[in-house]
Amino acid sequence: MNTNPIGIFDSGIGGLTVAKAIQKVLPNESFIYFGDTAHLPYGDKSPDSIRAYSNRIAELLVENKCKAIVIACNTASAHAYKTVVKSIPSHIPVINVVDPVAAYTAAHYQKGKVGVIGTKGTIQSRIYVKRIEKLNPNLKVLSNATPLLASMIEEGYYNNKISQSIIDSYLSKSSFKGIEALILGCTHYPLIKKEVEKFYQQKIEIIDSASVVAQAVSDVLKKKDILNTSKRKPKYSFWVSDYTESFEKSTAIFFNQKLKLVEKRIWKDERY
Ligand code: DGL
Repeated sequence: MNTNPIGIFDSGIGGLTVAKAIQKVLPNESFIYFGDTAHLPYGDKSPDSIRAYSNRIAELLVENKCKAIVIACNTASAHAYKTVVKSIPSHIPVINVVDPVAAYTAAHYQKGKVGVIGTKGTIQSRIYVKRIEKLNPNLKVLSNATPLLASMIEEGYYNNKISQSIIDSYLSKSSFKGIEALILGCTHYPLIKKEVEKFYQQKIEIIDSASVVAQAVSDVLKKKDILNTSKRKPKYSFWVSDYTESFEKSTAIFFNQKLKLVEKRIWKDERY
């Protein structure tokens, strides 16, 4: 048993969808959430920058006694997973959001086509294509970058006519014809799951990474025997690298309740 918190990070507050799912699956666990709002969005940043940001954040979480690290961002999972694993002590497990979803998809679909949408960074890395087609060579993975969606959601634009028409326009691309499932390859997208389902008229499965990842976190903690089995109330901390009232307000979108954000200026040598 280990009562230390889980460290969860994302480029901003979108990864709170993963934190929420972890809270549901592992209600005894405490966590520290870090949103790198000073560098948001990661989707357009270079892989080198994403690796540097992610390593520093993972180190900060380890300094604060986190017993496991969850990279709750697809873009950071695509570019920085390996370097994060190397930059922290080897006994601390690192869970990314891509591998559990790739494993789920490869196991649930024998052959045919599946689609994936995400940021430019995630899609250009071809991480989902590589991972899924390696696990199941009979599956073809088609991917499209949907860069407008994350900022649209952050501004509270979802479940309305404008968001539906942007989503419809992205999903109408002919390359997605005949897909049997669509992976929401960005931690912001659980918020638009209903609209994506509406586009496909509930005919295909929309794979939302939050619950699949939360289950993977639970499996890893169990396997490593570091679950928190104490009866004490868990503690949650929400840190960001650049505080604004608007970020704090938007937390309610992703966590179903407004959270108190604490600013941690960890990028001391850099101009914000
Ligand atoms: N939450 C990030 C992801 O899952 C997307 C937002 C961003 O571009 O920073 O990739």
